[in-house]
Amino acid sequence: MQLSLFDKKRFKSLADFQNMIQRGASHEEILSSLMDHDFFKSPKTNTAFKLQHSKYIDKILDFRVSFVEEMLVYEASGFDPDGNHETWGPKLHEGVQTWVGLDNETLQTPYCDIYRILALLKLRPYQEVVDLGAAYGRIGVLIGGLYPKNFFTGYEFVKERVNEGNRVFAKYGFKNSKLLSVDLGSSQFSLPLADVYFIYDFGRVEDILKTLREIEGLSARRPIRVVVRGKWTREIIENQLSSFELLHEGRLEKPFQIFSVRQF
Ligand SMILES: C[S@@+](CC[C@H](N)C(=O)[O-])C[C@H]1O[C@@H](n2cnc3c(N)ncnc32)[C@H](O)[C@@H]1O
Repeated sequence: MQLSLFDKKRFKSLADFQNMIQRGASHEEILSSLMDHDFFKSPKTNTAFKLQHSKYIDKILDFRVSFVEEMLVYEASGFDPDGNHETWGPKLHEGVQTWVGLDNETLQTPYCDIYRILALLKLRPYQEVVDLGAAYGRIGVLIGGLYPKNFFTGYEFVKERVNEGNRVFAKYGFKNSKLLSVDLGSSQFSLPLADVYFIYDFGRVEDILKTLREIEGLSARRPIRVVVRGKWTREIIENQLSSFELLHEGRLEKPFQIFSVRQF
């Protein structure tokens, strides 16, 4: 079989993703897409395209995000009918800000941004990426498909999100990705060692600070990089944590930073 000359790029426009959904792509085709870098690159980089691209990927993978989120809103609004995404999470989840009722695409980082961040990190084999407040574990989808020699662990408070993410990992046979249900703010939980931590303003400021201090402690044992999305985490680092050194400032639609953490 002749390859390269006739090999066509499979994902050139959003219509290619839409087409996959409409004709009901086979499991094998989805599996091979998950190993194709172009699958995770948004054909255009404006926000509307990026969000639609992520929505299409979730649909192709059969991620039941809307179903799970609607159930959570239904449960929360039952005892807080006038609430909203600021109040429902804490009411439902022991005061923890789990962002129930937030727009689904605002809750999670777009796949194409995760793709770019992972490319910048240039992971070495066997390095582990941890997402602190992982929702449905999108990073684990990319690690499962494109980085079979790496590992992903996502810590997430909401059990329903954890179960759905793990269901999708199992469906595609991703043995190197997992989600665990934990409260990062609990005094019972101490953060395990990893190579890269990803934080997208996951909840209360005091919980973010506790977690960043744990990372500082762990950095005595191994060089650590921390990817930050969200202004609270960035402000805490700038104002309170001198061992974090800025390595890269990303200017995607929502800016992100990569820090290295070192002990003096
Ligand atoms: C803004 S979302 C980010 C999701 C994911 N990191 C991403 O970028 O796609 C933050 C997530 O953190 C979770 N979270 C908030 N506080 C938490 C806590 N104390 N322990 C574990 N997860 C928490 C929320 O439930 C939510 O799913």
